[in-house]
Amino acid sequence: MAATTRTEHEPASHGSTCFFETGPDEQAYLTEHLSGSTLHFEKGALTTAEQLPHWAKSVEVLSVFVHSHIGPDIIDALPNLKLIASRSTGVDHINVQAAESRGIAVANVPTYGENTVAEHTFALILSLSRKVHKAIVRAGSGNFSVEGLQGFDLKGKTIGVVGTGHIGLHVIRIAKGFGMNVVASDPFPNRIASEILGFTYVPLDELMSESDIVTLHAPLTPQNRNLIGMESIAKFKRGALLINTARGGLVDTQALLKALDDGILSGAGLDVIEGEEVFSEEKQMLGNPNITDEKLKTAVRNLSLLQRSDLVITPHIAFDSREAVERILNTTIENINAFHAGASQNLVHS
Ligand SMILES: NC(=O)c1ccc[n+]([C@@H]2O[C@H](COP(=O)([O-])OP(=O)(O)OC[C@H]3O[C@@H](n4cnc5c(N)ncnc54)[C@H](O)[C@@H]3O)[C@@H](O)[C@H]2O)c1
Repeated sequence: MAATTRTEHEPASHGSTCFFETGPDEQAYLTEHLSGSTLHFEKGALTTAEQLPHWAKSVEVLSVFVHSHIGPDIIDALPNLKLIASRSTGVDHINVQAAESRGIAVANVPTYGENTVAEHTFALILSLSRKVHKAIVRAGSGNFSVEGLQGFDLKGKTIGVVGTGHIGLHVIRIAKGFGMNVVASDPFPNRIASEILGFTYVPLDELMSESDIVTLHAPLTPQNRNLIGMESIAKFKRGALLINTARGGLVDTQALLKALDDGILSGAGLDVIEGEEVFSEEKQMLGNPNITDEKLKTAVRNLSLLQRSDLVITPHIAFDSREAVERILNTTIENINAFHAGASQNLVHS
């Protein structure tokens, strides 16, 4: 992770808003569009209370992206904190319960990237189905042999969509454009969408056994951790692809490796992997109390994922289009302004 940079001037002692994980463009945009509170920007992620500067006690609004980890230590170190405005949909990096118990509101950005993440999902699918990742490497080395690069059509194949919220439904719309059959699973089925878009809800086991491609769009919750694990991999249709653009913790990496080694899965496209924060926090890993032995073990295991040619891995960029980032910033600005006006919006609860 990049070292935290601090602005030259300390913020005013009251009502300041502190943004972590912001680059120069985001800082300029937020400065232009947010008024009424002193703004302070940090480049790196916030993972431990030790990173907080002494003036942080005045911070009322904290805004982070997904590589920060807001636990009780940070919450306790910010006595004036009233709002955590996450610039993401998922809030599994924030201890919402700890925040609520201190009366701190947590807001997210519920709908910035349904098309953006869905489009990236298909970037991963097409990369695998047409072996684009292998072809690029081969052609780049001057080798134009087509040996072993034959792919398969998406048309007529079945895609299983796990989670039919904002992103899952957009994936279904795109899949229909490719002429695919769609099955889906969700504890809260959207019957109207299923009728309009023409897809069927089935239990997860059935989805796994029927689908040529399984794509995950469910949030990471304690119940959903390792949704794809050792017990479930045998249920995949042999040779299927697994795509995960949701959260790494939905898939047990050991189980994924076994499924690939045993030929149960023929490949996987991952924008998120279990323990990915360890890679992004590389420089601050040693001595960081949030990087536990368990997380380090997961990271070492995941290093072997990076070498495999049956995997396409991107570094958590499914959200990262120009348009989506602007939508994220606009909604965050609205969330903060609404909070200051006493009419909070987009609040999430534990
Ligand atoms: N990679 C990225 O850059 C990126 C960007 C945005 C969102 N995400 C992830 O994508 C997830 C989905 O986003 P969304 O906007 O569609 O969320 P959403 O809340 O609109 O939809 C999530 C859906 O998953 C369903 N669900 C919950 N548990 C399930 C389970 N066990 N099986 C099947 N369905 C289940 C919910 O009922 C809901 O319908 C987010 O939680 C976030 O973690 C990743």
